[in-house]
Amino acid sequence: MKILHVASELFPYVKVGGLGDVMGALPGAQRDLGADARVMLPGFATLLKEIRDLEPAGGFPDLLGQGEARLLRGRTSGGVPIYLLDHPGLYDRAGGPYVEYGDSHVRFAALAWAASQVGRNGDWAGWKPDVVQAHDWQAGLIPAYYAQDPTRAPATVMTIHNIAYPGIYPAALLPELWLDPKIFHPGGAEYYGKINFLKAGLAFADRITTVSPTYAREIQLPEGGCGLEGILAHRRRDLTGILNGVDYDVWNPSASPHLAQHYDARHPSGKKVVKNLLQREAGLDEDAEAPLFGVVSRLAEQKGLDLVLENVAYLIQLNAQLVVLGTGDPKLEAGFKAAAEAHPGRIAALLAYDEGMAHRILAGSDVILVPSRQEPCGLTQLYALRYGALPLVRRTGGLADTVTDTNAQSIMDSTATGFVFKEPSSWVLGEAIGRASRLYREDPRSWARIQRHAMGQNFSWKASAREYLDLYGALLGARV
Ligand code: ADP
Ligand code: GLC
Repeated sequence: MKILHVASELFPYVKVGGLGDVMGALPGAQRDLGADARVMLPGFATLLKEIRDLEPAGGFPDLLGQGEARLLRGRTSGGVPIYLLDHPGLYDRAGGPYVEYGDSHVRFAALAWAASQVGRNGDWAGWKPDVVQAHDWQAGLIPAYYAQDPTRAPATVMTIHNIAYPGIYPAALLPELWLDPKIFHPGGAEYYGKINFLKAGLAFADRITTVSPTYAREIQLPEGGCGLEGILAHRRRDLTGILNGVDYDVWNPSASPHLAQHYDARHPSGKKVVKNLLQREAGLDEDAEAPLFGVVSRLAEQKGLDLVLENVAYLIQLNAQLVVLGTGDPKLEAGFKAAAEAHPGRIAALLAYDEGMAHRILAGSDVILVPSRQEPCGLTQLYALRYGALPLVRRTGGLADTVTDTNAQSIMDSTATGFVFKEPSSWVLGEAIGRASRLYREDPRSWARIQRHAMGQNFSWKASAREYLDLYGALLGARV
């Protein structure tokens, strides 16, 4: 089976959040199961520089009215074939993939259009996918291009990683994006008079997936659907939630190159050393007894970190420590910076994007806070489990599907892996922080047991990759 994944991020080359991690792992996991999975991205400068063995694989005399573009093919460091859409005018720009130059709609519509052509005609070597999987709004127009012209169209899957980012643009841009007015209606790409890239994908893809079973349910409701709940409820028979996995070659406390001391579930003592090193590196007091809470996150409203800020005084009262790694919302950045200045040695704010530091915080912390308002899947809590930092999460989306709360029952039957709270209020989060802090200080034996169980959880990509292959199989079977 031949699959083409189309997206805007790819670990380790272009990463803003979890989408990059997924694209860096899922295609490889599918190849391990015997499928011919490949990826396609815009020819961002870092990719053109770092991908090996690039060679011409196709050409577009006119890419969406933007002139000529080339299709290049190479291989990622993990051995996955990758197609890059090479158009320097559109993609060779400073900054990450989502820096707004005023033409993101053109940049990503061009990606979708070119990918739809590869899906129709194949590359110069004759490789043509059976399934094109579009990831998030940046690839959302692919099924729309097939809806307006089904010639040689492959099967399509639209995957929602985050419904909060739909890609909405004025209807006047339809001709510029080579979109036919016939796809612009309430059951199609139209959304309150505008073009909605994600909705186009949801309306016209053969199947829809999202990244956890709970999120698949939540997005069919007004509270979670961000205005797209109607079309999702309408297409519920075609909608599946498949949990993301973890690339344990990258997220491995017994081998990560970012850690000075390694450990694992059977030899957990190294974690104490890593905690001490983290305290030193982050400028926290070297206090082995203090429960150390960590955050590694985009600082976005979705992540609920304002609730953590409101708990700063309580964390200090508990004599705990907090280290935050993240960038984003200037108000949250300023809030954490001020908290760190007010409580030196107890709170550290690292306002940066730093892959190595992310590993060291997951390894050195006792608890990782993920109090998200919405979380389609969430990967940091999965990494935290493997690193023996107990995740403290809100019961939503993939967080609800992956963390088991600690209580008398779950301690007794050894199912506890972290701490879970429901209401998105600072008081309820504080209650969970208090529970974690007390257990850490007062019952180290239970803590160690839960930690061992957490580290033994297996969220490898294999099972999820298999689920996708089954889904494509059913889809292709239904089409013939
Ligand atoms: P999302 O995709 O919504 O940001 P996920 O939990 O799925 O959330 O994935 C977040 C990914 O981004 C993880 O790999 C996490 O380690 C990483 N990450 C987030 N913020 C930072 C940061 N400031 N520095 C390094 N890595 C970060
Ligand atoms: C999105 C979501 C996150 C998910 C990631 C990868 O960025 O916010 O929950 O883990 O995509 O699917």
